[in-house]
Amino acid sequence: MRITPSVLQFLGILFLNVLITTQALRHYKFVVRDAPFTKLCSAKNILTVNGEFPGPTLYVTKGESIIVDVYNRANYNITIHWHGVNQPRYPWSDGPEFITQCAIQPGGLFSQKVIFSEEEGTLWWHAHSDWSRATVHGAIVIKPKPGNTYPFPKPDREVPMILGEWWKQDVVKVFDDLVSTGADAAISDSYTINGQPGDLHPCSANETFKLNVEHGKTYLLRMINAAMQDLLFFAIAKHQLTVVGSDGSYVKPFKVDYITISPGQTMDVLLEANQPLDQYYMAAKAYSSAFNVRFDNTTTTAILQYKKGNYIIPSSISTPHMPSLPSFNDTNSSVNIITQMRSLADEAHPVDVPLNITTNLFYTVSVNSLPCPNGTICKGPRGNNRFAASMNNVSFQLPQNNNINILQAYYNNISGVFSENFPDVPPLLFDFTASNLSTFLRTPSVDTEVKVLEYGSTVELVLQGTNLLAGTEHPMHLHGHSFYVVGWGFGNYNKDKDPFNYNLVDPPYQNTVAVPKNGWVAIRFQTKNPGVWFMHCHLERHVSWGMAMTFIVKNGNNPGQQMLPPPPDMPRCN
Ligand code: C2O
Ligand code: CU
Repeated sequence: MRITPSVLQFLGILFLNVLITTQALRHYKFVVRDAPFTKLCSAKNILTVNGEFPGPTLYVTKGESIIVDVYNRANYNITIHWHGVNQPRYPWSDGPEFITQCAIQPGGLFSQKVIFSEEEGTLWWHAHSDWSRATVHGAIVIKPKPGNTYPFPKPDREVPMILGEWWKQDVVKVFDDLVSTGADAAISDSYTINGQPGDLHPCSANETFKLNVEHGKTYLLRMINAAMQDLLFFAIAKHQLTVVGSDGSYVKPFKVDYITISPGQTMDVLLEANQPLDQYYMAAKAYSSAFNVRFDNTTTTAILQYKKGNYIIPSSISTPHMPSLPSFNDTNSSVNIITQMRSLADEAHPVDVPLNITTNLFYTVSVNSLPCPNGTICKGPRGNNRFAASMNNVSFQLPQNNNINILQAYYNNISGVFSENFPDVPPLLFDFTASNLSTFLRTPSVDTEVKVLEYGSTVELVLQGTNLLAGTEHPMHLHGHSFYVVGWGFGNYNKDKDPFNYNLVDPPYQNTVAVPKNGWVAIRFQTKNPGVWFMHCHLERHVSWGMAMTFIVKNGNNPGQQMLPPPPDMPRCN
């Protein structure tokens, strides 16, 4: 071979590639910027990553670390969170604004290291500042390690299915109105499947998401509920779904006619294309049980169409077959997943449920009201009030006036940013799920309170819904740790009876769990991840109203049990 400049260049590139793949982490480039979109006959600019809605899918291998270079080319502060990724010892790139970082300002760049460990399956990423996650989100697909396989037959194809929510007006305006008026948020105009409202909505027929399938093949749908305000029912006409995973962890397969999926939650479901060659709607609509609370009651659709070779079979009737979904307030139907979901708990996928509990916590989750600030007018509940929400009657206040965040204040010993008095039990015990609860119970305190946990604690946390204002379901999400859902029920938790019915053998391992309407859930986890970890309701209006708290998990004694130092490019606070 003659050594010419181009051969040298080729060898150089080859060498560089080897260097990059063996030594450096893979980089992804996320450019946050405005992009124009038209839906429901109405145009607007939305915040996106790389101009896409939903945003790009990250494909990684279990145990891998990647770098996502997040460039802010928008006129809006932004942070990005990797929902369900534990980030062992590294809360620095977890993302919730005012909790672990200050926002990336316009023009800024933050290279976020995302550390995958035990997660396998489907997770997602989303913005975690104001309400920008409405349009800034995307899927994360975590494949098994090389040489390992799925614990179910390999599907012929895999498809991310992202359920979203669309407002014709600017979401920034929806959020600003919520804050300034104290009223409930304006309801959305549609839900979306992979960014599309579907052809039951005006101006939506051409772009409806379509999934082409071949008879006899199996498809893995990686479902993500990225909607802002409601749990969703989802089904495919005349096809059953086999649930095989949720929240980046496998479950024992079970078949359902529909799934109920919470905002924040992911679900891996197998779809067998085993029906007559025809067209079938895939449809989602809200489960919203709160009495007298307005919600988006529209249905979003996509189309499952069979093809033979390249020929797409037209529908045998005037429109595709329509699945039947439970009615919007059907609470009994909404628990169809939580009643059936169990971990694999086999040799290759062992469970590690804490059995000896060192830390018992009992937190109520409530919707509340606060009096309107003097001299202003509010449009919240029952007179001149504004909506609020709380955990253990503390309405969480982001430390946004201090131009700092909890993690950096904790790490650098800066006082005055938060206090460590988050209560282990509610300050007042009452019949939490009774009707007509007295008005004085409705008013929470407002504060930035954290709960400090020792490294290695085994925690049982009971989350108790209340009927204050209006009982409803709350999809509670914990950062930094997945947890076992060992029990749940309707009504008040009974500490003398309910623990006997716990599943300590093969409970599901989740990062988000919906506390049922006027009910409770019990979760268990061990604090193996030092850092500052947010916990909150994943209904966006509830977290905006303060249904949140923060855990600080202290360092352990060994160096391997301690937080890693911050990266040099943490976004600056000011
Ligand atoms: Cu999916 Cu704190 O978020
Ligand atoms: Cu909630």
